[in-house]
Amino acid sequence: MLEEALKEFFVSTPKSRQLYERALRLMPGGISHNIRTWSLPSVGAYPFYVKKAKGCHIWDVDDNKYVDYWMGHMAMILGHNPKPVVTALQDQLTITGGTHWGTVNEKQLELAELIKDMVPTIDMLRFCNTGSEATMYATRLARGYTKKRILVKEFGGWHGYNDVLNWYVNEPQEDENESLGQIHELCDYVKAVPFGDIDKTIEAIRRNKNDLAAMILDIKMHLIKEGDCPKVAKYIKAVKEELNKYGALLIIDEIITGFRLAQGGVQEYFGVNADLVTYGKILGGGLPIGCVGGREDIMCLADPTEHQAGLKKKSEIVWIGGGTFSANPVTMTAGVETLKILRRKKTIYDELEIVGRRLRSKLNKILKETGISIDVYGIQSAFMPDLTRLNQKSILEWNIRLFNKGLFGRFPRGYISSAHTRDDIEKYITAVDEIKNEMKTKLT
Ligand SMILES: Cc1ncc(COP(=O)(O)O)c(C=O)c1O
Repeated sequence: MLEEALKEFFVSTPKSRQLYERALRLMPGGISHNIRTWSLPSVGAYPFYVKKAKGCHIWDVDDNKYVDYWMGHMAMILGHNPKPVVTALQDQLTITGGTHWGTVNEKQLELAELIKDMVPTIDMLRFCNTGSEATMYATRLARGYTKKRILVKEFGGWHGYNDVLNWYVNEPQEDENESLGQIHELCDYVKAVPFGDIDKTIEAIRRNKNDLAAMILDIKMHLIKEGDCPKVAKYIKAVKEELNKYGALLIIDEIITGFRLAQGGVQEYFGVNADLVTYGKILGGGLPIGCVGGREDIMCLADPTEHQAGLKKKSEIVWIGGGTFSANPVTMTAGVETLKILRRKKTIYDELEIVGRRLRSKLNKILKETGISIDVYGIQSAFMPDLTRLNQKSILEWNIRLFNKGLFGRFPRGYISSAHTRDDIEKYITAVDEIKNEMKTKLT
């Protein structure tokens, strides 16, 4: 019963409850990111407040310890506080004394060179501060380059809250605003298709070809089944081929998948090429970042110098960020150290693949044995038991029950890092094994 699970949660997290009550008076909903609270606040669940983290563990203010499967919105692929990153940051702060200079610095060149080295399709790039900015800039570049207006995306594709792409994300995915305050007419320039449906996607591309700037793809690695990878690769290739026919661009949003699926992200993992790519999360080494990069002939449009020299009108430049804190030396330092490790230790990706596969197959086995028909989705380091048949209350119960056993994720979805050991993974498997009978009644 959910009530039972919640009772245990309330007893173990009294300080978090107090902090949440304080937060409710300060921030709408008590949070600064909409998915940092449990769903169904009406049952009294509140977020737990974290006070420290190390490796794959986090501790809350009540001294409970959790194995973290959320890993800072998937940003912490090396675990929390990896030593080389922490040491480099300490040096950056104490020796060079810079959090933010608002000028160019050499670290940004180092990071840009590392990205280019790891992702061969990137000729040039620009840094900004968030993924939402990066996707917004990518679409402006695509529209500027093609001089067309329409963008195709997938239903459910998430690219941040910018007004360009924040359409067709949540149910109902009809022609309806995602938020109060949006200008509905902007949606006229965005078309959505079901991910993976080649026929419908090609049909949408053809129908809009006269005014089509780009298609942006968010490859949701937690929703793909391993056996379906060839189909996904085929889909991306078919989309690119069709876009090429009309001079439209393919943007791959690699904000989650970049440096996670492989060094070269989706492009390497599925053997495909994008015209533009966006990054965030892992690239910042635990600090805020966004990045848009791609073909030189497209990226060059963002060069302001010809306008500054009086050779081009302002409307001939694609003005993109990135913001006061773009390429600040602290983020650049953390990014450089992180990518250096990922580039040097290529085995990290093999390990993540092995551990992820083992976790998914064991979960599948346990759930099937109990007669629960839940598939466990995910590729590489992602996993997600498909709970779509459960109602909101039962999903919350699943989540809280695992949480009470010391496991944290945006349940039912989780990501592993290189800091997770086989023992940590076993803890998750055992916990699901322990709750499966309680959950079975809700599923059969
Ligand atoms: C695929 C994708 N694109 C864009 C974003 C937005 O990035 P940010 O939260 O850094 O603005 C996210 C964030 O989760 C994402 O997953």
